[in-house]
Amino acid sequence: MKAEEQFVHSSGGLLLGVMGDPIAHSKSPQMHGAALQALGITGAYVPLHIASERLGDAISAIRTLGFRGVNVTIPHKVAVMEFLDQLDESAASIGAVNTIVNDGGRLTGYNTDGIGYVRSLKAEAAPELQDTRILVLGAGGAARGIIHSLLKERPAELIVANRTPDKAVQLAEEWSTLGPIRGIGLEEAPSFIEGTDLVINTTSIGMHPKVDGTPFSADLLAPGMVVSDLIYNPLETRLLREARERGCTAHGGLGMFVYQGAYALEYWTGRPAPVDAMRQAMLECMGS
Ligand code: ATR
Repeated sequence: MKAEEQFVHSSGGLLLGVMGDPIAHSKSPQMHGAALQALGITGAYVPLHIASERLGDAISAIRTLGFRGVNVTIPHKVAVMEFLDQLDESAASIGAVNTIVNDGGRLTGYNTDGIGYVRSLKAEAAPELQDTRILVLGAGGAARGIIHSLLKERPAELIVANRTPDKAVQLAEEWSTLGPIRGIGLEEAPSFIEGTDLVINTTSIGMHPKVDGTPFSADLLAPGMVVSDLIYNPLETRLLREARERGCTAHGGLGMFVYQGAYALEYWTGRPAPVDAMRQAMLECMGS
């Protein structure tokens, strides 16, 4: 019997959810609800508003209530790790968990943000990453996830540029054995854009409601470059619009969100995720 069938039989449905604080804005319930429906799986994916001081209790409740798994979002991605039985290699290296799988009471933490991002990038904008030159803006939690996965693609060089330069330098040192990575200050980034194949914004510059913001001048971009932005609200940031107008390939953050969820769903159900239905549900709840 497959793992998800055990849960379907024991509880009358597959129980899934997302834990965060706040959580009301999360679009994961709609996306995963559509996915369960498309797969014909009886179950529910519920938003769970969990304050930090109750996180340990909430994780225990996954076992008690027989949840097959949950996603974990801000602010619990790091703090949740101490309450789990084991960590997948991705979560341990990145230092954050966004997906928990419950195998008969044993909880494993995964990080699907990085692999979700790379799957989306390759499917939608840059099929081949080997030997490319990559510039990543930002060195926070989101950057860590994607850089870890990008280095597995064996780029020629990956430069991390951050407002607080020390954070980028430290990250590069920590992962120097994973690939050719270097940390610099954000103000140095413009001089590295020429000759770069792929520029990725992981900062919040340009995110709703400050949609006029952009991390650097589009004048620096050359046609043929791939410009990627982790932001998905708005669907097309100013950076992406200007990049597209200059003949670059623009890649938005919606795909990353869809594919991080797709990997999580695949871990929980053992079945290929209905990616198109998930993307459609996201677009619908974003009103486009
Ligand atoms: P996330 O999980 O979204 O990455 P985070 O861990 O708080 O969130 O990291 C935010 C990143 O965006 C950091 O790299 C941050 O730079 P600092 O380390 O210097 O704080 C960057 N960032 C946020 N706002 C920024 C701004 N206005 N200008 C430049 N960088 C900014």
